[in-house]
Amino acid sequence: MLCLTQRTPEQWTRSALANLDAVLVDHAHCEMKAATNALSLAVRASEVPGVASALIALAEEELAHFRRVFEELERRGIPLGTPPPDAYAAELRKIVRAHTFPTRGAAAPERIEALVDRLLVAALIEARSCERFRLLADALAEAGPADLCALYRELLAAEARHYRTFVELARRVAGAESGWVEARFGELVELEAELASRLGSFPAIHG
Ligand SMILES: [Fe+2]
Ligand SMILES: [Fe+2]
Repeated sequence: MLCLTQRTPEQWTRSALANLDAVLVDHAHCEMKAATNALSLAVRASEVPGVASALIALAEEELAHFRRVFEELERRGIPLGTPPPDAYAAELRKIVRAHTFPTRGAAAPERIEALVDRLLVAALIEARSCERFRLLADALAEAGPADLCALYRELLAAEARHYRTFVELARRVAGAESGWVEARFGELVELEAELASRLGSFPAIHG
């Protein structure tokens, strides 16, 4: 569960297994978006030593995930297509919208708050991905196919590591007085929990 306070309902796993092709398509798009989001954050964080390079490395790993899932789609003859609607990501964007990125000339605290918010939201997305990959891996261990089960076992470990990386980077961006980051993360965890319970069991990685 990592930081999550709301478990994914059991019905989600049944729905995902029954719609595995759609879940794989959604998953491929999620990996692609994870790579581009990490790169976008790297540009925003370039003033903080060490943060941008960590985010570029993370983006490279997400790109490798995208390739893995894309190749899985190709093997199965499933077209990638355009990104399906992602209500989860859209709602999370609304949560952080209050902290829009100020221009470079703006006061440093505002820029730091905006960046920390986005890093913490990215951490939450990783945590939710990790939880759902575990549910999928466990279900696929029984129902098969075995190669997909192995893929999700491997990816869930990577997403757990990415979760820890994003939280650590948020603290690093906040600097010496990073105590407020924990309080903000607590707020975001509760908002994500409400969102996860509201969105229910749609067969998508964050549906
Ligand atoms: Fe990934
Ligand atoms: Fe990730």
